[in-house]
Amino acid sequence: MAFTQDELKQQVAKAAIEYVKSGIIGVGTGSTANYFIDELAKVKHKIEGAVASSEASANRLRKHGIEVFDLNSVNSMDIYVDGADEITEHMHMLKGGGGALTREKIVAAVAKTFICICDETKYVPVLGKFPLPVDVLPIAKSYVARELTKLGGQPQLRNFTTDNGNVILDVHGLVINDPIAMETTINQIVGVVTNGLFAKRPANILLLATHDGVKTIKK
Ligand code: 5RP
Repeated sequence: MAFTQDELKQQVAKAAIEYVKSGIIGVGTGSTANYFIDELAKVKHKIEGAVASSEASANRLRKHGIEVFDLNSVNSMDIYVDGADEITEHMHMLKGGGGALTREKIVAAVAKTFICICDETKYVPVLGKFPLPVDVLPIAKSYVARELTKLGGQPQLRNFTTDNGNVILDVHGLVINDPIAMETTINQIVGVVTNGLFAKRPANILLLATHDGVKTIKK
């Protein structure tokens, strides 16, 4: 059966609800995460609340009457549920299309299990076709852009300010054969806050919406 991409996103968001048991849920950012928030609202009686990876997600959660906690007040979290722009069979992800990559990485770091929810267009053999977002302190944008060019990419400044007041460089043209090494190298450039490679801490569970149903892939 053929579904639209939005229908696939909705189906995978629904499937993730099976993993919501109790406590505080880590919630990502983007259109797939938005569908997840809408599904979470239906089972909000089961949970204490959520930690959001962006102001946009926090607002959507609050609109549904779900309490939003500051990450600093939360010691542990069972699951973090978020979409991705690309993911490989190794569960390495490229994220940040919505510009929330830094908070996403921080909230994900606290969670025991990262559940990635994607439609099948995001499942790729090699990361890098989608431009890699790099979150940069504004003072460093030109320097960091020059360093990213030395790595073989073509950085473009996004017309966007992050929730933390930073800028995003979208790096085109990278073929990322070793995502862990690339994540480490880019994070070592002075002025980089973080980059959209989630390889050192990959997803633990991938729920992948396909035209034949939602598939579960575990690492
Ligand atoms: C936001 C993200 C998103 O997870 C990613 O961009 C996927 O978004 P969508 O679910 O809208 O396709 O990393 O920073």
